[in-house]
Amino acid sequence: MNTHSLKLLLILLTITFPSTQCDDDLVDQICKKTPFYDLCISTLKSNSNGKDVKGLASVMADTMLSNATDTLSYIRAEINRTPDPKIERALAYCAELYIPVVKYNLPQAIDALSKGQFEFAADGISDAAKEADSCEKMISWSQELAALSDRNKLIHSLSDVAVAIVKILLKG
Ligand SMILES: *[C@@H]1O[C@H](CO)[C@@H](O)[C@H](O)[C@H]1NC(C)=O
Repeated sequence: MNTHSLKLLLILLTITFPSTQCDDDLVDQICKKTPFYDLCISTLKSNSNGKDVKGLASVMADTMLSNATDTLSYIRAEINRTPDPKIERALAYCAELYIPVVKYNLPQAIDALSKGQFEFAADGISDAAKEADSCEKMISWSQELAALSDRNKLIHSLSDVAVAIVKILLKG
């Protein structure tokens, strides 16, 4: 390769890389303002292409919705599986808590985000964490439900990250 084409290559590289670099910088910058940096990075990293702060908040909210939906299916499967009536009652209670999260709170929050109604979006997202906490209180005694406990805690942490990002939008 001669010096001329090397120069051209260098110019091309500087033109091509800033935009991807920029996305990573934005994700990094945003995640530093949330309480769970690693969770924020791992959730947003593969999904951040070309997204602004509002787009990143939406990715967090979408991830919460798929986590909550998955958790509700898990709870329903456990209800069918467990022979223990005490565990079954606790699970049924948790299902009642997750149904509105999956049906209303999070879909409404996602919709509100897209319309720029950030206050309302933050409310819906923190409501999801409250429901996960209420489920957690109901099941934390049971060793058998440790996997559900992990899911509740993850949803709470995802909510904390999502709310922190929406607060950045609110300060906008
Ligand atoms: C739940 O959230 C975690 C953390 O972002 C993610 O890795 C996982 O894929 C999500 N699960 C579902 C079912 O969306």
